[in-house]
Amino acid sequence: MLTIQVCVGSSCFLRGAMNVITEFENLIAHYKMDDLVVLKGNFCLERCNEGATVRIGDKIFTGIRCEDVSDLFDNEVIPAVYGVK
Ligand code: FES
Repeated sequence: MLTIQVCVGSSCFLRGAMNVITEFENLIAHYKMDDLVVLKGNFCLERCNEGATVRIGDKIFTGIRCEDVSDLFDNEVIPAVYGVK
């Protein structure tokens, strides 16, 4: 099970974290990955000036906007879940 954490601390919230969460939710539903991925909100990943901040497994990504989520999903989430490079 892969865990995706989206920071919903105040700084990331103001930088669109809720839209990032919505986009992750849409993609998880689209790819029917509810049993493979856990999506969580997280309070502050200590990159407040660089948000929105997302952690996928052990990797941290900063400056994530709604429009970045699709690429992040294709390049990080799907390979991590299915073990493809
Ligand atoms: S508020 Fe998001 S990293 Fe601190």
